[in-house]
Amino acid sequence: MKSTIQKAHESFTAKLNRITSIEDLEALRIEFTGRSGIITQLMRQLGSFSLEEKRMYGPLLNDLKTTIGRQLLDKEVAFKTIDEQQRYKELRSFDVTLYRTTHFKGSLHPLTHVTTELEDIFITMGYTIMDGSEVETDFYNFEALNIPKNHPARDMQDTFWLNVPGLLLRTQTSNVQIHAMEQQKPPLAIFAPGRVFRNEATDATHECMFMQGECLFVDKEVSVGNLLATAQHFLQAFFNKDDLKIRVRPGYFPFVEPGLEIDAACPFCIKGCSICKYTGWIELLGAGLVHPHVLKAGGIDPAIYSGFAFGFGIDRLAMIKYSINDNRLFRSTRPAFLDQF
Ligand code: PHE
Repeated sequence: MKSTIQKAHESFTAKLNRITSIEDLEALRIEFTGRSGIITQLMRQLGSFSLEEKRMYGPLLNDLKTTIGRQLLDKEVAFKTIDEQQRYKELRSFDVTLYRTTHFKGSLHPLTHVTTELEDIFITMGYTIMDGSEVETDFYNFEALNIPKNHPARDMQDTFWLNVPGLLLRTQTSNVQIHAMEQQKPPLAIFAPGRVFRNEATDATHECMFMQGECLFVDKEVSVGNLLATAQHFLQAFFNKDDLKIRVRPGYFPFVEPGLEIDAACPFCIKGCSICKYTGWIELLGAGLVHPHVLKAGGIDPAIYSGFAFGFGIDRLAMIKYSINDNRLFRSTRPAFLDQF
């Protein structure tokens, strides 16, 4: 029996030394100290021994059990220590200097900045901000604005027609004029910023989608004087220049009569720069007094009321204000460009 106990211990130790995983260790524990393990079997055998033999081998068996238990525990601790050391190593090999933030701070798009600024200026002058739909009917974009079918003025704005007959992507924010007149009674003071679409080739100053702002004022006895004062005040506020001068040239837009082009003195120079193309003036607004046909189409009696309207490119204003030389940058989604605003 003594040699059996000894052999059991030797076999246990040999197996323990070969163990490489905590799972194998558990299997070994069951093999030796489990309910039907080797030690239990030896204990059972001892039951049939004489009292003297029991006294002799009992303590030996107990010692074996204790020793094996301690060896198992030591091995378990050793495994856990290796595991911890491994984890510690991995932590140490984590290079803190490689850390780079993945959080990018957002900012408002330059066109959003400019649009908000424009809205503030018009609100200060007592105007109401109005939205218009980008998908529009022929009536609101052309017919009601005194541009009948087959009129050559339609060629001024290359149009994206939709597959549904009579529907288009609006080519101008002037469509809002008619909606405003239909929905509200004069006096009317509306500012409508929004996206417009033109079926055009894209370059540094042309886009097939860009933003316009539309100003409409309708009341009794509205004159060109009212138009010019409003336009000048608005441009002075936008360019932050109280003495900004404007000049007027004749222009043609079927929905105004007379039709005007309004230029502002270049806010950046006195004698000429690349922004004003060395002329000292920059072309900014299409404008005029609302054509009687348009008032009528909007349900307003032109014998009682008159009005003025002007429209402009918001992209263009933003380009001038921030010295941006290519309008394609607005839709480029380049963080380096957008980060500046
Ligand atoms: N809608 C015109 C355009 O897109 C601008 C304009 C608006 C002209 C209002 C006159 C009056 O060119």
